[in-house]
Amino acid sequence: MNEKCKLVVAMAGASGSIYAARFLRALMEMDGESWIVASPASVRVFQEEYGTSAANAEEILEFVGTLWKSKLKHRFHVRSYGDIGADIASGSNTWEGMVVVPCSMKTAASIRSGVTANLIDRAADVSLKERRRLVLVPRETPYNRIHLQTMLELHDAGAVILPASPGFYQMPKSLDDLGDFIASRIFKLLGKEVDLYPRWNPETPKSHGTNLIL
Ligand SMILES: Cc1cc2nc3c(=O)[nH]c(=O)nc-3n(C[C@H](O)[C@H](O)[C@H](O)COP(=O)(O)O)c2cc1C
Repeated sequence: MNEKCKLVVAMAGASGSIYAARFLRALMEMDGESWIVASPASVRVFQEEYGTSAANAEEILEFVGTLWKSKLKHRFHVRSYGDIGADIASGSNTWEGMVVVPCSMKTAASIRSGVTANLIDRAADVSLKERRRLVLVPRETPYNRIHLQTMLELHDAGAVILPASPGFYQMPKSLDDLGDFIASRIFKLLGKEVDLYPRWNPETPKSHGTNLIL
């Protein structure tokens, strides 16, 4: 966790708060600064999944930092979901890349439509038009045709679709391991090599966790 970075981190209201939480935990310990935006639905889902009363992005950051006793090296700029006049609504501000984690089907559909009625959609739209990396971490199951078409069009428009589908071949031993599997893939796609999870090596003894037969 050594490189400075400048990212936009958005949270939408899909299940999978753990992916955002583990990503933010790691980001906190990296040099650099990032913007964070959480939709009202994402806050609601975060509350359900972590049993917390954190009521906005600022309180989610505080919750994550306290939960894992993170050493805060990163500067976070919290922006409001409805603030379409915020700095990250404009391509004149520079960020390296953006992630929507987790990404609801509603946010995926609105980014695809280009309507940009809130700051997440707008920053994603700017990321695409400025040819900056945009990583979307959708979570829904099963997918209907609309979801699949939405994701294909987003892919064709330049976004990376990184489904919230962690692998099990490295024997994760906790939910946090599953969160880190996805968080490390996001960092990689945003150009950051972060050591959150061991790389696959068929020769390594499987000591990372237990096997699936408990
Ligand atoms: C507990 C809970 C879990 C949800 N899980 C998902 C999900 O996994 N995927 C999804 O697309 N929507 C899910 N939703 C529905 C979205 O939150 C809803 O469509 C919302 O309007 C999304 O708004 P946003 O994209 O602005 O965050 C869930 C809602 C709740 C309350």
